[in-house]
Amino acid sequence: MTVTLDRNVEAFIGTPHQLFIDGQWNDAASGKTFETPNPATGETLALVAEGDAEDIDRAVRAARVAFDEGPWSRLTPSERGRIIWRIGDLILEHADELAQLESLDNGKPYAVARAADVPLAADLFHYMAGWATKIEGNSISISVPYMPGANFHSYTLREPIGVVGQIIPWNFPLLMAAWKLGPALAVGCTVVLKPAEQTPLSALRLAGLIAEAGVPDGVVNVVPGFGETAGAALASHMDVDKVAFTGSTEVGKLIVEAAGASNLKKLTLELGGKSPNIVFDDSEDAAIEGAANAIFFNHGQCCVAGSRLYVQESRFDEVVDGVAEIAKSIRLGSGLDPTTQMGPLVSDEQLRRVSGFLESGRSEGATALAGGGRYGDRGYFIEPTVLTNTRPDMKVVREEIFGPVVVAAPFSSLDEIAAVANDSEYGLGAGIWTRDISKAHALAKKLRAGTVWINCYNVFDAALPFGGYKQSGWGREMGHEVLNNYTEVKAVTTLL
Ligand code: NAI
Ligand code: MG
Repeated sequence: MTVTLDRNVEAFIGTPHQLFIDGQWNDAASGKTFETPNPATGETLALVAEGDAEDIDRAVRAARVAFDEGPWSRLTPSERGRIIWRIGDLILEHADELAQLESLDNGKPYAVARAADVPLAADLFHYMAGWATKIEGNSISISVPYMPGANFHSYTLREPIGVVGQIIPWNFPLLMAAWKLGPALAVGCTVVLKPAEQTPLSALRLAGLIAEAGVPDGVVNVVPGFGETAGAALASHMDVDKVAFTGSTEVGKLIVEAAGASNLKKLTLELGGKSPNIVFDDSEDAAIEGAANAIFFNHGQCCVAGSRLYVQESRFDEVVDGVAEIAKSIRLGSGLDPTTQMGPLVSDEQLRRVSGFLESGRSEGATALAGGGRYGDRGYFIEPTVLTNTRPDMKVVREEIFGPVVVAAPFSSLDEIAAVANDSEYGLGAGIWTRDISKAHALAKKLRAGTVWINCYNVFDAALPFGGYKQSGWGREMGHEVLNNYTEVKAVTTLL
């Protein structure tokens, strides 16, 4: 069984795709293209122009002209907001098509993309459209001790930071494009977006919708290509004012180096995680399904996946066996098969990486209560896996696996668990399951993580700031917090 492809999707994957620069579709300067594979089969899905330093430079120049000379910068905030709102509307009007593209390119079930990725992306633009008219400075009374009797009028202006480079990953391709583009457009920046080489298609389709919504040429440029070439060129470009990045901590550090070695561009980084999910013995039974969803959603390819499951001793066996039962019952298959509950990992590389972690867990003495290996021999499938008998120093406990693999361990008390949960170089998310609200909030305060979910997991909203403590990143995405990362503050003082 398979979802019938939308006619637009058939046409879209049947044609080679170009770069979107200054409102025009162009081949790469080198003429090179790359293949984006269908992860359910490993076969080529579509051909895409491969952007490199020269194309990035062209896109940055277009974004600079659009920023400096308008018409984007001359639109009123209200006009800008209405255009951004229209992007959200167009995403909803093309929801089936975008969800199918996402499923084909990334491997995730169509139903999940249709229910989560696409409406969340639309909602992000709708939410950010409202902020376009609410970017404000302050008026400030000042004292100036060395100018007694002087009278001043001081205020701040909050201005767009300028030309922004945005580098996004493949796990939520459309949604990550939305998280990045929405706030940049709301404050009046212009953008060069580099989608992940594994999943360029939905960002290219979005570029078309953005143009249709009335965003002027050069304001949003989309340049697919590889990280080491196109991504690195964006990170080190002398005329990019800021880079917003989502991806691995390893590449995040390279981007910090590139910014330091070039123009000290501003950075925000949304990086890896190894998020603890903590189940107390007084939790509702729903915690079992909650713990399974926390790790298995999006095949574990979530920066915030609940990949360390800690269960209070008296209920350890019950909860962990329950999660293992769910793991064994999950139906794997192509994202376009409506009976599929979990699709393939995104790429051959990711399959090898996750398999390497499973091998390391095995050799260090962990036990697989469910799964533990590859599923089938076609496409990039991994069995949903639950590992026990782990030690805190094992690689599978310390490092981000980014696949459907959870490590489970017992804990005894509230006093002990905060330190165990915080024993990680990451600090992105955390889950707490309990009926005792004081315990939940007391623990929430102690956790060094940017997001804490109580009796739920993977709840995202455009209004909620999202980002990491420690090596999970710098800055926040979404909510009004993100706007600070796309603006500069100017203090203006007049002697009256
Ligand atoms: P990655 O960090 O290499 O890729 C993310 C983005 O960065 C892609 O667009 C890529 O082209 C770009 N990139 C790569 N090297 C670059 C460079 N030198 N300069 C500028 N841009 C560069 O992630 P990858 O290799 O796809 O996955 C590796 C691991 O990273 C995963 O197993 C997972 O642990 C983590 N990851 C975390 C994500 C998150 O949401 N925080 C998303 C994707 C991966
Ligand atoms: Mg990489």
